[in-house]
Amino acid sequence: MLIKAMPIYGTRPEAIKMAPIVAAFQDSPLFDPHVVVTGQHREMLTQVNDTFGIVPAGDLDIFSHGQGLEAVTSRTLDRLTPVLKDVRPDVVVVQGDTTSAFAAGLAAFYLKIPVVHVEAGLRTPTIWSPFPEEGNRRLLTRITSLHLAPTQGSKANLVHEGVDPSTIAVTGNTVIDAFLSVAQGDRAFESPELDGVDDGRPIVLVTSHRRESWGDPMRRTAAALRELSIREPGTLFVLPLHANPLVRDIFRPALEGLPNVRLTEPLGYNDFARLTAMSRLVVTDSGGVQEEAPSLGKPVLVLREDTERPEAVTAGTAKLIGTDPELIVSNVSALLHDESVYAAMANAVNPYGDGKAAERSVAAIAAMFDRASRLPDFTV
Ligand code: UD1
Ligand code: UDP
Repeated sequence: MLIKAMPIYGTRPEAIKMAPIVAAFQDSPLFDPHVVVTGQHREMLTQVNDTFGIVPAGDLDIFSHGQGLEAVTSRTLDRLTPVLKDVRPDVVVVQGDTTSAFAAGLAAFYLKIPVVHVEAGLRTPTIWSPFPEEGNRRLLTRITSLHLAPTQGSKANLVHEGVDPSTIAVTGNTVIDAFLSVAQGDRAFESPELDGVDDGRPIVLVTSHRRESWGDPMRRTAAALRELSIREPGTLFVLPLHANPLVRDIFRPALEGLPNVRLTEPLGYNDFARLTAMSRLVVTDSGGVQEEAPSLGKPVLVLREDTERPEAVTAGTAKLIGTDPELIVSNVSALLHDESVYAAMANAVNPYGDGKAAERSVAAIAAMFDRASRLPDFTV
């Protein structure tokens, strides 16, 4: 009997990080995968599924503009429950800390279907930051049967909370599998919005979208980038904008029309990976980007006060700078002009994975059903 596994996800980063697991399920003779998307994101989700050639078997289509957390949660519960009752998967697989992941895990738990949590054990000291993600992942931990921790540090967080170590496998982060699969090779950009960015100017790649950045912190980031674009006329600042109007309405008025700033639509994953590889440095509040850029030795300035991803900070490749405009300007300028500052951060480190996270994950899931042995844990 094949193991019926249901990966469920709803947003861009979950889709990217689940794609290697979906591929590994499809390649395995042990599994019958049924991919379901919640549709929390719409075009940003479809963009990733198209890149990886994933055609979901089910789509809960919960998206609406300006959707609240309660709407994402309740619509996912309402629409997923009949699908779970119909398909009766042996196991549900969710990823990370979005509201889709939490609600899907809860729907499975209510039907006593075992939950596998990919990217388990990331923690900050307070449930309020990042909000609601820290709460989502802590809640998921309580209802998870198999915890796929990306690093030894995330395993230690779980053990510290009393999770049975035998239910934890350390896999590496699947984002590194995904990133390595697209970052190799020298393909042309797909988006015409990137025409000419490869003209030799140093590129600073910037993304900002997180809920805790909305409003004043994001306005401070926009002001800092405006200042930098004037002070650094020979540098190109590229900002792929998140689809959220709350993000666009801050960055567009502050930066549109500046000759060395390129604002784009959300980029396809191939383009984003290539742009990361071409950039001198990355400025971001994104979780996934914090994990990807260090693997290429790109210094990362993190626009947050804390991070659940301390490994690259410890390795010296990432630095937490928050959103004080002076700090953003001075740190970016130093990385553009001071080679010793740059060299100190530009170390290619892979604390988050080695490209084999999906293989380890799928082996650990098969081991839950006594159909395979786990692979050795990921270590740096
Ligand atoms: C969500 C996750 C966050 C993750 C982020 C990745 C939650 C609570 N938040 O935040 O953890 O880091 O995704 O990007 O789960 N929109 C579109 N089209 C899209 C996607 C979004 O128009 O394809 C717009 C909509 O107006 C929507 C808004 O963006 O209301 C916010 O989307 P939402 O999924 O609620 O939260 P994110 O901020 O994207
Ligand atoms: N990404 C992308 N196109 C973009 C910006 C980001 O494909 O225009 C990818 C990026 O490589 C990373 C993921 O999206 O893998 C991060 O998603 P996001 O920043 O939306 O969410 P987070 O990681 O903060 O949850």
